[in-house]
Amino acid sequence: MIDVLLGLQWGDEGKGKIVDYFAPNYDIIARFQGGPNAGHTLYVNGNKIVLHQIPSGIFHEGIVNLVGSGVVLDPVTLKKEFDKVAEFGVDARKNLYIAERTHLILPTHRALDKASELSKGTGKIGSTLKGIGPAYMDKTGRNGLRVGDVLDKNFTTQYIRLRLKHQKLLDSFGFQEDITAWEEEFFEALELIRQLNIVPGEYFINDQLRNGKKVLAEGAQGSMLDVDFGTFPFVTSSNTISAGVCTGLGVAPQKIREVIGVSKAYCTRVGSGPFPTELLDDTGELLRKVGNEFGATTGRPRRCGWIDLVALQFACMINGVTQIVMTKADVLDGFEELNMCQQYQINGKATSVVPYQMMKTEIEPLYTSVPGWKTDISALKSFDQLPDGMKEYIRQINAFLGVPVRYISNGPGRDQIIEAPKA
Ligand code: GDP
Ligand code: IMO
Ligand code: MG
Repeated sequence: MIDVLLGLQWGDEGKGKIVDYFAPNYDIIARFQGGPNAGHTLYVNGNKIVLHQIPSGIFHEGIVNLVGSGVVLDPVTLKKEFDKVAEFGVDARKNLYIAERTHLILPTHRALDKASELSKGTGKIGSTLKGIGPAYMDKTGRNGLRVGDVLDKNFTTQYIRLRLKHQKLLDSFGFQEDITAWEEEFFEALELIRQLNIVPGEYFINDQLRNGKKVLAEGAQGSMLDVDFGTFPFVTSSNTISAGVCTGLGVAPQKIREVIGVSKAYCTRVGSGPFPTELLDDTGELLRKVGNEFGATTGRPRRCGWIDLVALQFACMINGVTQIVMTKADVLDGFEELNMCQQYQINGKATSVVPYQMMKTEIEPLYTSVPGWKTDISALKSFDQLPDGMKEYIRQINAFLGVPVRYISNGPGRDQIIEAPKA
């Protein structure tokens, strides 16, 4: 059986920490989409580490970590990450498996990402510039190279052919940068890839499932960044939602049991695009400061705002969320009053529907307010100890979404998590 854990907002919900926490309950942790645009922060023995390509179960001995075929893989990032986890005494070679169908991010994909963003000017997406869009374009355009190809003796020829195609595109953008150093790094990193456990991912995972193993599928990005259902075109290029698990791992939908949605107790977004509850005032600034809201991959300041229940309800619907983990609840500790967006006002009418073209729609969030709890919750260990104001905040979320908040994360540490009683 497979449980899925994914982000319900615009990414950075704290998925890495929560996967690390749940990992001991599973045999396999599998990434099913995205690539090095992800930045999943974990604290291991009090030390911070950010993972981009390796699944967040890598610090647990005996757990298999699978990079599924729906992921796009940058060998250079992977190699750097190998060195990073080695500093923690982990040899990722042992427990990391990579699906042979996984598409590769080439140096020219990164260049194309940059060139494309530059050409968009003020309309830029705010991409992490990791080559995600161009790599997925080559996948759906049926040009891309895959991890399995690296083992082929003709790989370099295939690479040169695709590189020539990319060069024409780069020329049309007027892109002048020299990427020789990137290419050197890339070919060096391929040597590592060739030594790894490259497997037919779909057989690998289905065999494990048949043998009764438990899998946790780890999402990257968030539901509002999904290429189909997010705030298009300000999205990433993969299916971040639960449906992406089937296509990204090669498993059937009936194998999925729980869909665990991770949501911050408020909202953030990094990069461009619509964000109805964004706070451009001192309150937004305070959220960013207290929540330390700076991107784990790019270091950019994250935009901050109140919790958006309209968007969350939409995310619960498209994912079939069965339980919610609410993270960064402690960040709200000092606020006098908290707002929750329960409807959007569009053209003078209140609605609970997320419009298909959010960017071109004037959305005014309609809020209900609750008093803040003004208590430091970061050291609390049980639900009973939580302040009443916070219990009320959670009660309202449960009632609105019809999906229970089952865990509350009250700090970045591994042990800072509280289980809520079953309703
Ligand atoms: P991910 O991409 O979803 O894994 O999330 P990121 O790692 O990009 O961002 C989440 C940030 O919040 C990281 O810096 C985490 O260490 C931190 N974090 C996670 N959970 C909590 C929490 O409950 N409270 C606080 N204060 N920080 C948290
Ligand atoms: P994790 O897994 C937050 C955002 C970028 C940009 C848009 C497209 O850490 O939650 P891309 O590089 O995919 O072309 O960027 O998506 N984005 C993320 N925002 N967390 C992420 O991942 C993100 N991955 C991409 O900022 O707006
Ligand atoms: Mg992140």
